[in-house]
Formats: sequence, C-alpha cells, structure tokens
Amino acid sequence: MSYHFIHIEDPETLSIQQGDDLQCRADEVVIDVAYAGLNRADVLQRMGLYPPPPDASKVMGLEVSGCIKVAGEESGFSVGERVCALVHGGGYATQAVAKAVCTMRTPEGVDDLTAACLPEAFLTVWYNVIVRASLKAGETLLVHGGVSGIGNIAVQLAKSMGCKVIATAGTPEKCSILDRLGADISLNYSASSLTQQCQEHGVMGEVDVVLDMVGGDFEQFNLECLAVDGRIACIGLMRGGQATIDLTQLLMKRATLTGSTLRRLTPSEKARCFEEVEAHMMPLVAAGAMTPLVDRVYDLPDALDAQTYMASGGHAGKLLLKCAS
Ligand SMILES: NC(=O)c1ccc[n+]([C@@H]2O[C@H](COP(=O)([O-])OP(=O)(O)OC[C@H]3O[C@@H](n4cnc5c(N)ncnc54)[C@H](OP(=O)(O)O)[C@@H]3O)[C@@H](O)[C@H]2O)c1
Repeated sequence: MSYHFIHIEDPETLSIQQGDDLQCRADEVVIDVAYAGLNRADVLQRMGLYPPPPDASKVMGLEVSGCIKVAGEESGFSVGERVCALVHGGGYATQAVAKAVCTMRTPEGVDDLTAACLPEAFLTVWYNVIVRASLKAGETLLVHGGVSGIGNIAVQLAKSMGCKVIATAGTPEKCSILDRLGADISLNYSASSLTQQCQEHGVMGEVDVVLDMVGGDFEQFNLECLAVDGRIACIGLMRGGQATIDLTQLLMKRATLTGSTLRRLTPSEKARCFEEVEAHMMPLVAAGAMTPLVDRVYDLPDALDAQTYMASGGHAGKLLLKCAS
C-alpha cells in the first residue's frame, strides 16, 4: 500500500496512517501527490472550527501537485501527466482524488513545488478580483495580506495587468517583500493608521478594488479608500467577522461589497474559473512573469509543525508539504 495520509487525532495531535490505494470515478483522477499546499482553512479544520462538507474527504488539504496515477475514462487526462489540482479535501496525503475539471496540466518548465502553490490562490484571486470585482487594466487594487499565499498572487496578477497595486503587511520586513513583488505602495498596518498612510501617498479615495481577507475594524477603511464605483471583495476575516461601517460611504461611492468562499462555488462555476485561469494565469507562470512566493517546505509527517508556523503568522508566502517519499 502506497497511500499514506495525515489523520486528525485531536486538535493538537496529527498521526500518519496507511490505507488502500485510492480509486476514482469516470470524471476524476487519482494524483500521486508531490506537494500539498497549506491553507488557513486547514488550520481551522484541525481545530474543529471548519468542518469539511459531508461529501468531502475528512483528510485535510485543498490543493496538490503531482502526477496522474489513475485517469478516469471521462477525465481527459492520461496516466503520468504532471498536474496540479484543487481537491475536495484529502491533500495531506501521498495520493489524492480530484475532479478532472478542477485539475490543470502543469506547464513545461514549471516544477511541482511551484505548481502546488497555484490552484487555491489562482482560483480565489481570479474569481474574486476578476470575476466578482471586475478589476480592469489600469485600475488600482488594494490587497490586504499582500505576502499571504493568496495576496502575493493578487499583487503579481494585478501588476501583470498594468494596475497600480497597494498592499498591506504587518512588519517592515514583509513590506520590503511587497516592494520586491512589485507593489507600488506597501503599507505597514502595524505602524500607523492605513487611512493616514494612504493620505500621505495621495491614494485615499482612489482605490477601484479591495481584496479583503481581514474584515473587522478595517472594513470602514476599505470603504473610505474606495473611488466612486469601487468594489470590495471579501475572502477572509483575519480581524473578525463583525464590522461597523458607515453605509453613507456605500451610497455616496456607489460601492459594491461582495464576498465568497471557493468551497461553495458550484462545480460548473469552478469549471469555468479553471478554464479562465488556465488560459490567463498559467501562461504567466510558464513565462516566468509570475513566481509564487514560497516560505517553507515541510515533510508530510511534520504537518502539525507547518500548521503551527502558519498560525503564528511569521511566514511570508506559501507553506507546502512534501508528500512524495
Ligand atoms: N474565500 C475564499 O474562497 C478563500 C480561499 C482561500 C483563502 N481565503 C482566505 O484568505 C486569507 C489568506 O489565506 P492564506 O492561505 O494565503 O493565509 P496566510 O498566508 O496565512 O495569510 C494570512 C494573511 O492575513 C494577514 N493578517 C493576519 N492577521 C492580520 C491582522 N490582524 N490584520 C491584518 N492582516 C492580517 C497576514 O498578514 P501579515 O502576515 O502581514 O500580518 C497574512 O498575509 C485567509 O483569511 C483565508 O481564510 C479565502
């Protein structure tokens, strides 16, 4: 048996277990996992705060890269192809099942480590920044959590579109990383108020789209920094799910406040997004015009250490598990 997976014994104990090789349906593939990407949702799942949907794998992990081990007869893939995929749980393992429509071929020249950084960030950024918030070339995007696994991809995508990018982070060191990623303005949210910093940069009221993973007490700032017809796409609540906002701003700015979670997209919405991401974002990686920011790689049995590091907030960029032996 070559299937090993991480099992949650209790919120503070993970064990590695063994099972039968995975099988898949006609429209699915089984992937020999090279790397699995860590996501905040995994940490919440381990702590019992984010129960997986009833039809999902109980094993943590939402994205993987690797090689096709079994190709369902209607999947359109062949055994041996290098891919990366969004999985319905089950990524913290040596094998994972993915829907074919949620699986992308890894371009020539892109390694498995890089590929594992892409599915969750690409889908989240594309769906929220482009589909829901309609960022256009030349507009201004403000990204909270700019060095996060999600945020760094948003910064790089917007720069590739010729947008002006403002990004936030919590330390001067992380702001330096934002500068290197190409952000036009980096704001240290721990240093002084974001409103004051935006005023100093002359960008208050100039932002077309906010990609917001923080919410809470920053929501009023998000509204105030918007230009007329600005859009806020909320994807996370790192500063809390409760916010007091002045709705006058919403009216005066004709603003749009939208939100989503990737897991709740219908299969057809996901499939459409994957097609668009493959057409518009994968070529940027293949051409070297976008390089996901990676912080650290852990071995699969060290998943708890990896999650503890993520929960500490010290990381900048993606954390990965090496799943192949
Ligand atoms: N809705 C969806 O479909 C979807 C999909 C994927 C991810 N997400 C969400 O997107 C966010 C990023 O995910 P990730 O996996 O990339 O996680 P991550 O790398 O751990 O990023 C978390 C980010 O949040 C920022 N942050 C944390 N606490 C903050 C605070 N108190 N004030 C301001 N910023 C704070 C951090 O910035 P500093 O390190 O600079 O403090 C960090 O960049 C998470 O909230 C996650 O739940 C949503």
